[in-house]
Amino acid sequence: MRTETSVTVYRKDYLPYPFDIPEVSLVFDLDPEATTVRSRLAVRRRTPGDGAPLELDGSDLELISVSVDGRELDKEAYRLNESTLALSTLGDAATVEIVSRCRPAANSTLMGLYVSGGNFFTQCEAEGFRRITWFADRPDVMSRYRVTLRATSEYPVLLSNGNLIESRTLPDGRAEVVWEDPFPKPCYLFALVAGRLTHRETRVTTASGREVLLQVYSDPGSESKTGWALESLVRALRWDESRFGLELDLDRFMVVAVRDFNMGAMENKGLNIFNAAYVLANADTATDANYEAIESVIGHEYFHNWTGNRVTCRDWFQLSLKEGLTVFRDQEFSADMMASGLDTAAAASARAVKRIDDVVTLRAAQFPEDGGPMAHPIRPESYQEIGNFYTATVYEKGAEVIRMQHTLLGDAGFRAGMDEYFRRHDGQAVTCDDFVAAMESVYTRQHPGRDLGIFRRWYSQAGTPRVAVELHYDAPARRCTIRLAQRCAPVGVEKNSPNAAAKKPFHIPFAVGLMDRDGRALMLNQDGRQTETAVLELTTEQQEWVFEDIPSAPVPSLLRGFSAPVIVEYPWSDEELALLSAHDTDPFARWEAGQELATREILALVSLHQTGAALRVRPGFIAAWRALLEDAALDEAYRARALALPSEKTLAERMSAIDPPALAVARDFLRAELGRDLAPAWRQVFEECQTPGPYRPAPEPAGKRALKNMALTHLLAGGDAQASEWALAQYKQATNMTDRLGAMAALVNHGDPDIATGVLGEFYEQWQQDPLVIDKWFSLQATARSTTVQTVRGLMAHPAFTLRNPNRARALVFQFCLNNARGLHVPDGSGYDYWVEQVLALDALNPEVAARLARAMDNWSRFVPVLRAPMRAALERVRNHPGLSRNVSEIVSKALELAA
Ligand code: TRP
Ligand code: ZN
Repeated sequence: MRTETSVTVYRKDYLPYPFDIPEVSLVFDLDPEATTVRSRLAVRRRTPGDGAPLELDGSDLELISVSVDGRELDKEAYRLNESTLALSTLGDAATVEIVSRCRPAANSTLMGLYVSGGNFFTQCEAEGFRRITWFADRPDVMSRYRVTLRATSEYPVLLSNGNLIESRTLPDGRAEVVWEDPFPKPCYLFALVAGRLTHRETRVTTASGREVLLQVYSDPGSESKTGWALESLVRALRWDESRFGLELDLDRFMVVAVRDFNMGAMENKGLNIFNAAYVLANADTATDANYEAIESVIGHEYFHNWTGNRVTCRDWFQLSLKEGLTVFRDQEFSADMMASGLDTAAAASARAVKRIDDVVTLRAAQFPEDGGPMAHPIRPESYQEIGNFYTATVYEKGAEVIRMQHTLLGDAGFRAGMDEYFRRHDGQAVTCDDFVAAMESVYTRQHPGRDLGIFRRWYSQAGTPRVAVELHYDAPARRCTIRLAQRCAPVGVEKNSPNAAAKKPFHIPFAVGLMDRDGRALMLNQDGRQTETAVLELTTEQQEWVFEDIPSAPVPSLLRGFSAPVIVEYPWSDEELALLSAHDTDPFARWEAGQELATREILALVSLHQTGAALRVRPGFIAAWRALLEDAALDEAYRARALALPSEKTLAERMSAIDPPALAVARDFLRAELGRDLAPAWRQVFEECQTPGPYRPAPEPAGKRALKNMALTHLLAGGDAQASEWALAQYKQATNMTDRLGAMAALVNHGDPDIATGVLGEFYEQWQQDPLVIDKWFSLQATARSTTVQTVRGLMAHPAFTLRNPNRARALVFQFCLNNARGLHVPDGSGYDYWVEQVLALDALNPEVAARLARAMDNWSRFVPVLRAPMRAALERVRNHPGLSRNVSEIVSKALELAA
């Protein structure tokens, strides 16, 4: 294998493509061993007579012929190398025809055209289309596609983008179909699917009265598992109509599930292709979390039809233009679905649960990224491999940046900004700046003389800002002064840049409230309006706000609703946090106060453990947790979040030297103490939260199941003998996967090892035919408390394990390397040896997936010294491996060169 050369691409170097390619016709003769693709391109020079060569991208293709205006070229008339086909003698307009071959069955990268389960699928974003045919593989070249598919009767279903316009049988007995997509699109949105598939469909009438056909395709035999996905699709369609006035623009919209897929799903125009994990569900095989994820990913891909497809990206640096915005839209969709039909208070709690879950993800995945070697602004300035920039920063922080604009403009203002964005840019390939400009037009109308100039820094600067809060209360004057100060040190590549010192303040919408010492909300006067929550717009390094008529010394409730992706610094006392945790009227800030208490408790236990002292939990903490557990006014879903201990990843962010074994000991100790000390309350919760009757994947019963399973875990962790019986009974009698898996997890992590082994064996026997269920079986073991490198190596030898299926690799290898810190980080380095082996093995098959595993070592320099050295050595071993992909090479070299 050849080592791929690494070239850095810079945003500042953007140049428009010299040609338009308004029409593309593709003819596929599908064959797993060698598929022939005939491509006919209508090309037109953008600047007539400029003489620029037509340079087309290609990868792993066999060229058969090239013709221009019907005349085949001989080899001297074009230039061909590993990645480019260049024609330098074209006039101002020409028809270029290229015949080439690719090898779908041998394609283990899952980019371009590949075979999975005997069927054909494509994945073109970001740069996969070049593996199908030579083309201008960049998002600002938009074309109308006409696609002809020919295949034998082994492939009865033949799908592509847009509308089916012809279907016939060829003289040789093969089928031929023709699809036409009326909307010009970049090639990354091209898709085809061919094979033996079953489907479920429904027809709905859109807001303007058009009847459209919605279909969900999947493997034969899985038809009972596509109902929820199709219902979710209908809800998504309705929601985009009502919340954003955006209608489906096609007569037919298809979703196809595939078992082998690099990520979650892909928004190809009219033909979304999904990882089967985000489509297939029934009560027996899918958990509440799976149902929720399906609804959210179905929504996400559907919403891309407007935010991504109708308006697309000019270049890949603008990725967050579509991803940040679409994640924001799917988050709002899920929140609205969770709150629908509830009264005001219950709806607020339901929305807070969704917000909490999203912030937990942000903190566990994005905050570490933003302080590490891969830190980048949501609109990166450079990359070596764009596949490495489908990150938590571009997606999740990108969504936060959109959400801040929503906060600044208000719901109606944001909607007006979206309308303006589509009015200006429908049908175009644009930039993040174009989006902000549309929003700014509304903001400036709302606030004459103000603009989003400072706000735009969220797009160009990386790092998580810290906001330090000072509060002064002047009792005689009944005046409260709040001072905010922000700072954000250079991170990652910023440290090497010439203007590292020049980072400037951000525009931060900072939502605050004040609580009195009896736990009542105080009213704030902001711009002549009385409000419980004021949004302070911090735009400089330091600013001060004064609130009059505050009757008593308040406790501040800060960053309500997580109004900005920042870290708050304020010296609350434990008593103040307990007060907020019991009474804050903002449900997000209330949750946050409890999390801060738990963080302090766990970090204190870590210190005790590190100094060899006996571990002890302070009674104040137990009392705060008891208050939450027994607060029946809180719905179960919210209580389950409030009582969840912060994850190891979130806690690691708070440590100067990350010590995974100590963290694990501390969290385990606290969980067991809570289990013992609050046992009667946990038992009561367990009994009250049963959900008899048929399974419903709705927020209310799902909240009960979450809290009940949490009770089970805590009781078992505390050594409760009765709970062990409860868990076994729940496992045996479960009518749904949430309960079955919840019980099994409690037993595997905290139960008798023999019972756990028995249950794991039974589970495998029962579900071995269902790959998504077996993924859960692998994941649970990969992250189990007692799992070591040896356990994982043993599981890799299991006949059901394969590295070639990304879901399976993620279930075992990734879960162990990314979510089992105590198993991975052992001082003898055996965990790191395993990581090196797996990164290299995966890299030979699938570089995109390998690069994600490679990121497990990103923050090596922040670990305790005994681990730092072997982690570094492991990274060096990967970097020095001959034949490394560009994907993995970028990750490991940045980890070594840009470490914190
Ligand atoms: N655009 C897709 C989404 O966010 C994700 C995606 C990008 C993807 N590249 C991919 C999916 C490669 C699979 C493989 O919805
Ligand atoms: Zn997306």
